[in-house]
Amino acid sequence: MHPMLNVATKAARAAGKIINRASMDLDLVKVGTKGPNDFVTEADQAAEAAIIEVLKQAYPDHSILAEESGATGQSDHVWIIDPIDGTSNFIHGYPCYAVSIALQVRGQVMHAIVYDPVNNDLYSASRGEGAFINNKRIRVSKRIRTNECLIGVSYPAGSADPDVQTRRLISLNANSAGVRRSGSAVMDLTALACGRLDAYVACGLQPWDLAAGMLLVQEAGGLATGFDGEGVKLEEGNLVAANPKLLPQILKMVA
Ligand code: IPD
Ligand code: CA
Ligand code: CA
Repeated sequence: MHPMLNVATKAARAAGKIINRASMDLDLVKVGTKGPNDFVTEADQAAEAAIIEVLKQAYPDHSILAEESGATGQSDHVWIIDPIDGTSNFIHGYPCYAVSIALQVRGQVMHAIVYDPVNNDLYSASRGEGAFINNKRIRVSKRIRTNECLIGVSYPAGSADPDVQTRRLISLNANSAGVRRSGSAVMDLTALACGRLDAYVACGLQPWDLAAGMLLVQEAGGLATGFDGEGVKLEEGNLVAANPKLLPQILKMVA
């Protein structure tokens, strides 16, 4: 494992401990609201602080882009952090959420760690080195018949454009074996990287929702693009991903 992945793993496991401890008594967890349908708990904040502490100890000059504490630093190495992706699930005791840490170097995501503290599963990838769950190689599915495919979707709760979302959902649902919305973009992307989902469509998300999971999918043999079929722009938050033969058909469905 690349040394930077080792450090990110240590950070993710430290966050996982905090999250698991908090999950044992959810009634005690204080929940705040950042906006409509956008929640933050003290576990998000404590987990993020623990991640940043580990990363900063190893790489004091690197920049940080973290969901709860924002952007700091001027380096071309940027750690993109979501301490709990799936906060609403976490608050409800719905066991689908994960810690997401990616390292972007000069604009390109190079390393990714996703830690699912519920199942103690560690997903890792470095660009050009493949994707792994608990050190075992993972690959995207080979399905190419859309009517056999399970498709994951993510979009912000209370989406600004409900008609567009609804049209997309109807189209995906009508042309596949089913649509799944887990409430955690990064868990959907790990499912795609493992071949449990066959395709994934996200819109209106944030860089920390997508960065680590996108690299996992790419290193598992998948392709990820924007809705236009061009490279993903993390700052725009839209992503369509699948195996290379399936992707053009999914892009048509969401056009
Ligand atoms: C959320 C999840 C969800 C997506 C939301 C995100 P959070 O992240 O990724 O799948 O639909 O738009 O905000 O807030 O739980 O870190
Ligand atoms: Ca998130
Ligand atoms: Ca989050």
